[in-house]
Amino acid sequence: MDVIATIQEMQERSDKLRAAGRTIALVPTMGFLHEGHLELMRAGKQHADELIISIFVNPTQFGPGEDVDRYPRDTKGDLQKARSVGVDVVFMPSAEEMYPDRFQTRVQVEDLPHHLCGLSRPGHFDGVATVVAKLFNITRPHLAVFGQKDYQQLAVISRMVMDLNMDIRILGVPTVREPDGLAMSSRNSYLSPEERRSALGLKKSIDLANELLRTGERRAKTITDAVRSLILSHPFTDIDYVALCDPVTLETLDALEEETLLALAVRVGKTRLIDNCLLRKASDQ
Ligand code: PAJ
Repeated sequence: MDVIATIQEMQERSDKLRAAGRTIALVPTMGFLHEGHLELMRAGKQHADELIISIFVNPTQFGPGEDVDRYPRDTKGDLQKARSVGVDVVFMPSAEEMYPDRFQTRVQVEDLPHHLCGLSRPGHFDGVATVVAKLFNITRPHLAVFGQKDYQQLAVISRMVMDLNMDIRILGVPTVREPDGLAMSSRNSYLSPEERRSALGLKKSIDLANELLRTGERRAKTITDAVRSLILSHPFTDIDYVALCDPVTLETLDALEEETLLALAVRVGKTRLIDNCLLRKASDQ
């Protein structure tokens, strides 16, 4: 496994691989790798000859109140984990390499960021779209893999690839959870043991929504009210949003459609956690 830090070397490597007829999968990450990231890598490995991952804590997607320097890092552990799933190349640039002086271009998807996380994190998805577009130009993949846990991010990237005619297939991988249901996230490392228990309210509330759907409930307000009270019955929780929305446009719905996205963002203590689930009406209901 090679670790590459410069854009030029990475582009040359990818060009060589492409010229040799090899297909490339890219898994972009911010490091502090966990089983969720590794699952994306396994999927990438299955669908391409060469697996490149990037580890870059992207400063432009962090807002003023969000501390990029506080983001957890573990380069040694990350490289071990990457090696264990058969990563071929780790692209690990510095912030100066990615954003040299006079950098001034942004990729902005217009509507999708005006919902859900975009409302409380203005500019976040511009930062994500811009860095991912750069990573695509640097690693030149045929396929790029993203997690459904960050549903809105996956939607924004898919839209960008379509709108800008990037010749890259985007693959979404289902959310990987801890045995007790908590969606894996690098941010879980911020939680105290008590907060960690309260964080289980997110998955429990998703299960409750599915249960309400199964018993025939279709009113969005009834479901979001139930989800909210279940989450708030756990200490240290503060809801950013509980939304039922169209899975394509992310617009809020009053009643459940065939497929409806339930999306949650909850602060547990100081840590902001997200989770989501596609609620599907059963065909016999
Ligand atoms: P990061 O939070 O490190 O996540 C990297 C990828 O792992 C994303 O596609 C995310 O959706 C996926 N992922 C995280 N937790 C997961 C889980 N429990 N199950 C499945 N997939 C999971 O997302 C980012 O980094 C950045 O915004 C990035 C795309 C790298 C751009 O900077």
